[in-house]
Amino acid sequence: MERYGAETYGERIAAVYDDRPEVVRQVVGVDLLARLAGPGPVLELGVGTGRVALPLAARGLEVHGIDASRAMVRRMHAKPGGDAIAVAIGDMADLPTPGGPYSLVFVVFNTFFAILSQSEQVRCFENVARAMVPGGRFLIEAFVPDLSRFDRGQRTSTTHLSVDEVAIDATMYDATEQRVDGQHLVLRDGEPVRMLPVSLRFAWPSELDLMARLAGLELESRRGGWHDEPFTSASATHVSVYRKA
Ligand SMILES: C[S@@+](CC[C@H](N)C(=O)[O-])C[C@H]1O[C@@H](n2cnc3c(N)ncnc32)[C@H](O)[C@@H]1O
Repeated sequence: MERYGAETYGERIAAVYDDRPEVVRQVVGVDLLARLAGPGPVLELGVGTGRVALPLAARGLEVHGIDASRAMVRRMHAKPGGDAIAVAIGDMADLPTPGGPYSLVFVVFNTFFAILSQSEQVRCFENVARAMVPGGRFLIEAFVPDLSRFDRGQRTSTTHLSVDEVAIDATMYDATEQRVDGQHLVLRDGEPVRMLPVSLRFAWPSELDLMARLAGLELESRRGGWHDEPFTSASATHVSVYRKA
């Protein structure tokens, strides 16, 4: 998408992010993260408004974050406990860290796919491996790509409808780049249209495993969700944990 940068998603959505239906619905397994973290410290890539980092820090762990959007991070720092989370503003492929080395690095809610090329995703894995202690873990939660969602390279779907409002997701799919460019559109009677753009470069779990191997990490576990669900061909998402030797 033209004029779309690492910060675009966050800068546009920050004011409404915490109330978005897909965000409210999405539950992250803080228990599992805390178990994997051991003594810490912990680093979240794409820390955003602190939806996950704050409850994790509330358990006594030292939690750091990286995010490309200052607007998202401002929201987190305005929340109780937000000041305790040290954040580096920048691109997670570069992995500018506020500290480390980390016992756990994690990236949830498909945020790894916000790195928009395969080579940059590989670079992120390599930088994560360097930022971890020996035996450290890198957890990724992401969707399993489902190309049947698209009809001739696009999909438009209505996600909410009422007398005064309609929400529409419009997406285009580029098979050669494994890229999806989309807009969440919110049209409210009598108000300007709100456009929330998002771009992703998705990868199948097997491709992520290969990236991990290039970075010297091994797949330790893969589940179909946060609650120990088996990962099967029917799984829509996966929670994968990579370990540094
Ligand atoms: C879907 S939100 C997830 C926020 C938080 N982890 C959560 O689960 O609520 C994605 C976050 O990643 C950030 N982001 C997107 N691309 C990024 C990049 N290349 N580098 C760093 N942060 C990025 C966005 O600004 C946004 O805060």
